[in-house]
Amino acid sequence: MVAESRLTPADLIQPLFILDGSGRRQAIESMPGIERLSVDLLLPVAERAVELGIPAVALFPVTPAECKCEHAVEAWNDDNLMCRAIRAIKRHCPDLGIIGDVALDPYTSHGQDGLLRNGLILNDETVEALIRQACCLARAGCDIVAPSDMMDGRIGAIRKALDEAGMDQTMILSYAAKYASAFYGPFRDAVGSAGCLGKADKKTYQMDPANGCEALREVALDVAEAADMVMIKPGLPYLDVIRRVKDAFQLPTLAYHVSGEYAMIKAAGEKGWLDADAAMMESLIAFKRAGADAVLSYAALWAAERLRRE
Ligand code: PBG
Repeated sequence: MVAESRLTPADLIQPLFILDGSGRRQAIESMPGIERLSVDLLLPVAERAVELGIPAVALFPVTPAECKCEHAVEAWNDDNLMCRAIRAIKRHCPDLGIIGDVALDPYTSHGQDGLLRNGLILNDETVEALIRQACCLARAGCDIVAPSDMMDGRIGAIRKALDEAGMDQTMILSYAAKYASAFYGPFRDAVGSAGCLGKADKKTYQMDPANGCEALREVALDVAEAADMVMIKPGLPYLDVIRRVKDAFQLPTLAYHVSGEYAMIKAAGEKGWLDADAAMMESLIAFKRAGADAVLSYAALWAAERLRRE
């Protein structure tokens, strides 16, 4: 009766990993319970999400190696895996929201989110590529484009390009405060960018975990450039940032409970070191308490099933 926060399926967004081909399903070793699925096998999952009241899914492609290159041109191929998945899901489940990730890492041979010259990220050239990618996703029917690349100036540039192309209804969810985090490890295994990235890191464009005020400056820029929603990522180690952003901007504020956070709970659970189910639910409600309006979590479908049973 007096609980201050509540978790419902409407608060949850399920990230999904898409495989090329059909009838294909692969377990992800570092993310127990999560699979990469080809588009045909994704459809029943999308249907289940709708039944459970999950408002949206976030799609991530596993790009075949032969489609990757230094310039990431596959990112704006209207027939790439993402576009095919978006069209199929929209046909099958028109009411399910689709969030499309905007960043070049699934498509670059070097695994960086941006274009490189002499090993350095080219901010402005990358923004031009992101505009093409975002418009491509929007044309395929994506409801929300979500730049996760952390280049400067991309929100305003993407908004302008979408509007000019008549796609003013497409929303932008900015990964506004995204930290250079070790918790992304299992995700990079899942999409196959870990091998491309090698020993390199993303510290010149993702944020320093030591910084909180900088997150507010990053969010302020994206809000000024017309982001509809902002995201903080990773999740639990940055609950203070979620609270500060929510209080300062009062914009729809999302949290990403990332792959490493999911994997830690699952791994400890498998060892019998903690009750993984209880720890997962506790993590999810913590996001609500911290002020998040919605949470991207690999446990979204599972948690929604559980909430329904309760
Ligand atoms: C890359 C991207 C990453 C994640 C989502 N988009 C990883 C990275 O920045 O290397 C991580 C998500 C997760 O760990 O669950 N654009």
